[in-house]
Amino acid sequence: MPKHVAVIMDGNGRWAKKRFLPRVAGHVKGVELVREMVRACLERGIDYLTLFAFSSENWRRPQEEVSLLMQLFVKALEQEIEKLNSNGVRLRVVGDLQRFEPRLQLLIQKGEEKTANNTRLNLTIAANYGGRWDIMQGLNCMLAAQPEKSGDWTEADLEPWLSMSFAPEPDLFIRTGGEERISNFLLWQLAYSELYFTPSLWPDFNTLEFDKAIASYQQRERRFGRTSEQLSGKPDA
Ligand code: IPE
Ligand code: IPE
Ligand code: MG
Repeated sequence: MPKHVAVIMDGNGRWAKKRFLPRVAGHVKGVELVREMVRACLERGIDYLTLFAFSSENWRRPQEEVSLLMQLFVKALEQEIEKLNSNGVRLRVVGDLQRFEPRLQLLIQKGEEKTANNTRLNLTIAANYGGRWDIMQGLNCMLAAQPEKSGDWTEADLEPWLSMSFAPEPDLFIRTGGEERISNFLLWQLAYSELYFTPSLWPDFNTLEFDKAIASYQQRERRFGRTSEQLSGKPDA
């Protein structure tokens, strides 16, 4: 089993369009799928699930869609925290949260505090998140923490300041919706993740498809730069 699964939940709009529904209907359905995925991760003993819910670039969408997405986020937090908590899920939200309205920021803070001692599943929602933003905010924090130091910075110096520093790097990355790109998601952390793309739109995704992605992951050989022979311990290694 992968320890950490990261997902770009894409295709809500197209799912709705196919049904002659407004885009937001796809987002509503998409929230249901988040519930299903959380359940699936709990059942499979996956430790970390990280979901891309809203990118730094998604502010470029029509104002009405952005505002409906924010309302959905608020509603989901209000409705789901209790259940997440009773299921042993620890919630975190990563991203530049200052741009959200105060009510949403407060809900996020309360949800994180309430679930802070849970250990069964680490659920992280990336909201107003961008991989480049993450690296830059990490760099700024790193430099501010040791203003006297100059030069010779290492990867290990930066890592504690990145948003996902609490988690191991994703083992499996899934993107639904058919696009085969990262869209400024976890740029640093996906360096060695196994990538899985599926044409299924996010509202059509399900546990069966999730298991297909996991099965694909389980067949990959993760070499991290080494040779196949080294990994299998054969004599010519
Ligand atoms: C992903 O679905 C959800 C968000 C980005 C919030 P989209 O809304 O991008 O759906 P498509 O790609 O237009 O189908
Ligand atoms: C990526 O989806 C972000 C989320 C799923 C939250 P987009 O639909 O915004 O990505 P692009 O614009 O097609 O790359
Ligand atoms: Mg999209």
